[in-house]
Amino acid sequence: MNTSRLTPYKVAFIAGITLASCASHQGEYNVVPQPVVLKQHSGFFNITENTSVAVNSGTERVDSIINGLLDTYIDSRYGVVVQRDKSNNPTIEFKIDGDVNKEVGAKDGYIINVTGKHVLVSSSTDAGLFYGLQTLFQLMETDGIPQCEIKDYPRFNYRGMHLDVSRNFFPKEFIFKMLDAMSYYKLNKFHWHLTDGAGWRIEIDQYPELTNKAAYRKGDTWKEWSTTGSKYSDSKDSTASGAYYTKEDVREVVKYAQDRFIEVIPEIEMPGHSEEVFWAYPEYNCEGKPYTSSDFCIGNEGSFVFLQNILDEVIELFPSQYVHIGGDEAAKGGWKKCKKCQKRMKDEGLNNLDELQSYMIKRIENYLISKNKQLLGWDEIVEGGLAPEATVMSWRDSTFAITALKDGHDVIMTPGGYYYFDHYQAVPFEQPEAIGGYSPLKKVYSYNPTFAGLTPEQLSHIIGVQANVWTEYIPTQEHAEYMIFPRILAVAETGWTPDSLKNWEDFKKRANHHIGYLQTKGINAFPLTDDIEVITSRDSVNNTLVVTLDAEKYPVDIRYTVDGTETTNTSDLYITDIVVKDSVLLVASLFGEKADSTKFTRKRIDNHKAIGKTVTYLKPINKSYPSTGENALVDGRKGGFGYNDGIWQGYTNDLEIVIDLEKEQKIHRIFGNFMQLIGPGVFLPASLELYASIDGKEFTQFANVTHEVSVEDPSLIIKEMGWDGDINTRYIKVVAKQCEKKGFIFADEIVVW
Ligand code: ACM
Repeated sequence: MNTSRLTPYKVAFIAGITLASCASHQGEYNVVPQPVVLKQHSGFFNITENTSVAVNSGTERVDSIINGLLDTYIDSRYGVVVQRDKSNNPTIEFKIDGDVNKEVGAKDGYIINVTGKHVLVSSSTDAGLFYGLQTLFQLMETDGIPQCEIKDYPRFNYRGMHLDVSRNFFPKEFIFKMLDAMSYYKLNKFHWHLTDGAGWRIEIDQYPELTNKAAYRKGDTWKEWSTTGSKYSDSKDSTASGAYYTKEDVREVVKYAQDRFIEVIPEIEMPGHSEEVFWAYPEYNCEGKPYTSSDFCIGNEGSFVFLQNILDEVIELFPSQYVHIGGDEAAKGGWKKCKKCQKRMKDEGLNNLDELQSYMIKRIENYLISKNKQLLGWDEIVEGGLAPEATVMSWRDSTFAITALKDGHDVIMTPGGYYYFDHYQAVPFEQPEAIGGYSPLKKVYSYNPTFAGLTPEQLSHIIGVQANVWTEYIPTQEHAEYMIFPRILAVAETGWTPDSLKNWEDFKKRANHHIGYLQTKGINAFPLTDDIEVITSRDSVNNTLVVTLDAEKYPVDIRYTVDGTETTNTSDLYITDIVVKDSVLLVASLFGEKADSTKFTRKRIDNHKAIGKTVTYLKPINKSYPSTGENALVDGRKGGFGYNDGIWQGYTNDLEIVIDLEKEQKIHRIFGNFMQLIGPGVFLPASLELYASIDGKEFTQFANVTHEVSVEDPSLIIKEMGWDGDINTRYIKVVAKQCEKKGFIFADEIVVW
């Protein structure tokens, strides 16, 4: 793995221009998430030794949390120790006000008023005061707090981040660091993925072998472990690698989170993803042996006793409303062959393995309800019948979320295509190895958790959003930070700010500012890419392609050429759309203090002969990856690095189309781009066959293009396959043949010249 890019990016953080006297200049207001109402005024509230603070939340605990964090922040930001108010005339005041909820119209909202002389933060709830405090921190500039009026409240009550500590373990100090950062962005749920096949990470008194054995393995990192046979070990083995949280560690994390108004939700996986458990307690899978299946035996009453005993200890440690029980990706195969499971199905009248899983989840839900807890599970728990009061965490396609919402269940949206932070965030070839996918900041930010066709009542059960940090390819803390930041800011804003107020251009500016802040906190945030997004659309009236460019970095200038030459600081400045009449090789790069102007984005834009022509599909498009349907391969748009970017079109059979050029003409070049990414089963076609026809009935083959790329090559490959020559034709039949792996074929455009 290329780790050299993970070196902390050190930048001097300049939070504003220092002016001796600045009563009238404007503040920056770089608040993430964007407040609902923010009225900016000129001038600042200055923070000096005379600043006095009074916090009146109504409880000593909350007063002390706010006072403590405020003192630390102001001291580190301004080198000032503020006074505690003794005269009943504070200059910074926090107070509980029962009317604020009514005024802002939502729970946990807050109001901030900053004048030149006074700062007032008020809320009806402790959490609201805490959120007001975070906004105040983010408003602070070198000159003080810019004058303003804010009325703010969350869009969703659940705003979460998940962390997988099974695949790679992260010590509690790292969790504290994440909780600090989460609270700064008003995230309020930490979903702790404590158990999975790669290691059990929480001490359970009644089953000590879970930590003596199931927390230990051969191989330090997940990758080492998984590529050397996925073998478990024992704490007594001197070559063992393992770690877990003691109960004391868990209590510390829960307390640290509570002090930041974050609820910690434990996840104990069942019935699948439990290979490590059966290394320690093999009697609970169907085979009674380790290294056989990943699933608990549902026919065995002992499995329920075991899991309930574990849940008892977990519930004692975690005051959270929810316990997450996993429920995802059970293999289920063992249940088919298991006599006990088959008997269970017969006795309970269960028709299939999904219903058998559902039987287990419902029993566990009953148990949790008896302990005053609510069950939360991945969206597989919808299959086979949802437990009556379960909350669903939607990660796959939205059908499961929609089913649950229609049934009146609460749903938390964690869509894999947007919110999985183990996915690449920039050009995969240049990034540390990731699991796949492609979810750059703009894509994460673009997600809006809602569905067309549901009633407002059904939609009201979408209770929030969460980013998931799976760690198979994230072995270190530094790397985890790199994958989480700044993408988590986009999730935080989606969870808090009304969709109508979200704005990518404005968020981009604020996110860039916050990268500087995060670096001062020792967080190895990804400094964003120097690559430029090239967005192409068709102007069918003028018969041209219109190209828009976008950068993640801010502030920068984009300069470009259209003749394939490298950009310099005198190349054309990108100000408005670029209009392409025929074919250009666009080269663009960024210019600015934080940009690398020698990092060139190159993209050929082809306003070719087939654009806008009729395409007939002889074999179907895959329903999950339709792009824009039957015009997608002739719309001038070339795909990016993710097959799910809406431009790439997918096929689970051969691609077989006929393009009608409307009249017979000379053709000299035809090509298409195809993708290979073997993890999710995307393969290059074995061959590209081209056929010509004048009448659309009789076709003659004129090309058969193959390639040398191996179906085992694990890297992301985007391969041009094409033909050059001379032919007269009106119709072109394009056949991309499946390779022997029979996975997906993905294509973005068939270019005809
Ligand atoms: C999951 O990604 N298996 C929830």
